[in-house]
Amino acid sequence: MRTTLVLLAITLASTTYAQQPTRNDAYHYQVKKSVTATHGAVVSAHPLASQAGLQMLQQGGNAVDAAIATQFALAVVYPAAGNLGGGGFLIAHLKDGKNLAIDYREKAPAAASRDMYLDKSGNANTTLSQEGHLAAGVPGTVAGIFASLPYAKLTIQQLIAPAITLAEKGFAITEREAKSLNSQQALFSKLNTKPNVFVRTRTWKAGDTLLQKDLAATLKRIRDNGRAGFYEGETAALIVAEMKRGKGLMTTADLKAYEAKERTAVSFPYKSYRIVTMPLPSSGGIALQQMLGMVEKYPLASWGFHSVNAMHVMIEAERRAYADRAEYLGDPDFVKVPVKQLTSPAYLQSRMEDYDPHHAGSSDTTGAGKVYYESDETTHLSVMDNEGNAVAVTTTLNGGYGSKVVVGGAGFFLNNEMDDFSVKPGVPNMYGLVGNEANAVAPGKRMLSSMTPTIVLKKDKPYIVAGTPGGSTIITSVFQTVLNILEFNLPTQQAVDAPKFHHQWWPDQVDVEEDFDEAPLQGLRQMGYKIVPHSPIGRTEVIKVNDKGQLEAAGDKRGDDSAAGY
Ligand code: DON
Repeated sequence: MRTTLVLLAITLASTTYAQQPTRNDAYHYQVKKSVTATHGAVVSAHPLASQAGLQMLQQGGNAVDAAIATQFALAVVYPAAGNLGGGGFLIAHLKDGKNLAIDYREKAPAAASRDMYLDKSGNANTTLSQEGHLAAGVPGTVAGIFASLPYAKLTIQQLIAPAITLAEKGFAITEREAKSLNSQQALFSKLNTKPNVFVRTRTWKAGDTLLQKDLAATLKRIRDNGRAGFYEGETAALIVAEMKRGKGLMTTADLKAYEAKERTAVSFPYKSYRIVTMPLPSSGGIALQQMLGMVEKYPLASWGFHSVNAMHVMIEAERRAYADRAEYLGDPDFVKVPVKQLTSPAYLQSRMEDYDPHHAGSSDTTGAGKVYYESDETTHLSVMDNEGNAVAVTTTLNGGYGSKVVVGGAGFFLNNEMDDFSVKPGVPNMYGLVGNEANAVAPGKRMLSSMTPTIVLKKDKPYIVAGTPGGSTIITSVFQTVLNILEFNLPTQQAVDAPKFHHQWWPDQVDVEEDFDEAPLQGLRQMGYKIVPHSPIGRTEVIKVNDKGQLEAAGDKRGDDSAAGY
């Protein structure tokens, strides 16, 4: 796989990362995979976004400041997933010991309805939930950023400045970005109602400048008017006008009513560690707790990394967690989810009772567990500072460039998150995930997510910050990355880059990355598993505190992901 240097040298200026990005910095930057730092570190999907976060740390900001600046910058330099028109989740462990979970997941517009993606004969039309105006949920990102601002030290003006410069002055796109933009031209042309900077007749190539004047103007309205700079006034009017032109559902009232929510983080022990991760409406935290709970009693470390035995038990845990996800999980503001039971040690133990150490299980016979109701293209960034704050943010438009619709005159893509609802029970979404009533569309409801921003605490202090995009594979990637460090003792970069495997209950198969060793796969085939090659899984960003107390930041080899620190 091609690594590292994406040098888009158009000028001869050297990179001076400590400053505000100047035009030259945005043309002359390097992907850095591994960085060891003492003061603070940021790792994200794009070098310029990691730099924006680093600048905030150097200006006296904390990890929350860095996470905010990195998110704004990603909305400019990584338009496939970084966003203003999508949503996300933030997990933090703050220096005073508080765990923070901010939910800024998109919501279904008020005019959405359960069967809105079904035709007259009741067949699901997933093109409508995946492409174009009807696919968009009410964006949450800007509300989420403002919900996290009280935990930051710098002003919104400081935090948004690097993004404004990058949008206004432009930056050189990487080869990967050029390819990605070229691959979408037909859909962009078909689905947009106004010309925008992403569509052009000439093909994009590495080093081309992406200038985003409309986006810069939107960012300035947010800088000057706060939340209202997005959810009200001109930006809201542009979104609503876009919806009218494209026959979408979102209204002025939907935008005004959107609220990010502080929720209680999922927090549970794994051996001597504590895992802090995202609660509903993400399925990620619950599924991670289930999977770690199911494998905890097995001798993973002595079986070894990618040993047949370790993979077998991990795959069976994945199968069972995803079966429960499909049956039970949905927006907790709308459906009653038996979280306590699904994550109780007794339940998790019972789930593995039919585990056969010598043979693959079957999704025909292993469905969701029985519980009794009590009354009662995504991107991730990881940050740690030297004050004891750690932040994990996963944010998404859902598919690459979301609905592919750019809000005319406002310069940002809208998400296609509506496809994360179960548009019809049993009909797979774009990640092959099936769901049920718990995740049916309803007005104002948040669609179930797999995003799993996660912090591992050791002796109550941040030890690992991790997360990744990858749709349904997010949870299994985080599961494996955490175990790669806690059980298999892999060095940080290797824990990120190691080939991943994935089982999501249905289809009943193990997806493996193409660079996976053949030997364990052979063993798994003999046990009865169907092994299917898969394109690269996730883009995981990890920061780990090493034995010397330094921060080891690792950007995934699978993209332009880049670490920064000082
Ligand atoms: O929230 C979710 O689970 C999905 N919308 C995430 C999509 C994603 O990771 C796309 N990136 N590859």
